[in-house]
Amino acid sequence: MALFLPSPRTIDQGSVPALRWGIIGTGIAGNFVSAMHAFTTQRAVAVAARDVGRTQVFAATHGIPVVHADPAALIASAEVDVVYIATPHPSHHDLALEAIAAGKHVLVEKPIAMSAAEADAITSAGRAAGVLVMEAMWTRYLPQSDVMRQVLADGVLGDVHLVRADFGFSMPFLPEHRMWNAELGGGALLDAGVYPISFISSVLGPPTSVVAHGAMTSTGVDARANLLLPSASGATGMASTSMVTCMPVTAEVLGTAGRLSVLSPFFGPSGLTLTTGSIGSEDSVTWRDETVTLHDGMHWQATALAAYVGEGRLESPVHGHAEIVSVMATIDEARRQVAADAGSFA
Ligand SMILES: NC(=O)c1ccc[n+]([C@@H]2O[C@H](COP(=O)([O-])OP(=O)(O)OC[C@H]3O[C@@H](n4cnc5c(N)ncnc54)[C@H](OP(=O)(O)O)[C@@H]3O)[C@@H](O)[C@H]2O)c1
Repeated sequence: MALFLPSPRTIDQGSVPALRWGIIGTGIAGNFVSAMHAFTTQRAVAVAARDVGRTQVFAATHGIPVVHADPAALIASAEVDVVYIATPHPSHHDLALEAIAAGKHVLVEKPIAMSAAEADAITSAGRAAGVLVMEAMWTRYLPQSDVMRQVLADGVLGDVHLVRADFGFSMPFLPEHRMWNAELGGGALLDAGVYPISFISSVLGPPTSVVAHGAMTSTGVDARANLLLPSASGATGMASTSMVTCMPVTAEVLGTAGRLSVLSPFFGPSGLTLTTGSIGSEDSVTWRDETVTLHDGMHWQATALAAYVGEGRLESPVHGHAEIVSVMATIDEARRQVAADAGSFA
């Protein structure tokens, strides 16, 4: 029988409630709102950030009717069902707790917070308040991720021995940029490393230990990190991240019967290659997601969130709270180990 990849199972737009979204932040939030408006029935009804002038331009660009002078006013608004928090990571914790206390569902940009303790506080508060809390780990909601879940569930790869993933890039030295600035939550691990660590977690579950090696920048944030993440099954996870290194940005699950490669960039809509057999007797099939451009793929998480709200869920069935906290715990430990290796500057 010819090798094949299953079709992705996607959520029917017509089956989910049309929610009213309040947007906090005007950076990556622009990509999210564009994608959501172009591809879903979800609508941004209000926006807030600190610079009101910039926020007004953002609102006009995206057809958002209301600009609030500050995030607190947006969170308090009775016209908002769900708050999307897209500000630098150190502000996620307080904004999320404020929104949850106001009875709003929340979608918090990745990483959900600065630490596992903060992630636990946010997710616990959401469950206690009876609102949905999701991290905007949009990769989980892409069609290719559903195909991957089906391939893994069908056992096509045999016993999985290794999962490796990387997300890194070489960016210029900009000490004022949030990536280089410790007070703004800088460093590769929190910004980019969360993707490969989350990918490995989605296949292998939480690691039994963390070994991290890397280097710091002269500004005191992690520049690069390579992680060894053994799992309870005996399989190994290997994650790499960097803000000073050119990387392929791919992910791969390797087993006794085959391997599944997620094409670059694996965190966004790209595609998959399934290869069965090993060297000399390989057979492969590739599926590419050509439905949207890179960040337009963020729309899938908006529809998923609305579906889960409609179902009365408090957490995502494909990215639960325990896993969100566990990934942050891995990042905490990797950041600690890389920082402890004092003197190794990028
Ligand atoms: N999913 C993805 O593909 C993706 C891509 C990039 C970033 N992100 C995540 O999104 C978050 C934001 O990143 P970004 O690249 O958009 O950053 P950015 O370009 O620096 O934008 C941050 C935005 O937040 C606003 N802001 C900053 N502090 C605030 C506060 N205390 N209260 C309210 N608004 C505040 C800023 O506007 P004012 O200065 O006017 O307040 C700005 O609009 C980060 O956590 C990052 O990891 C996700």
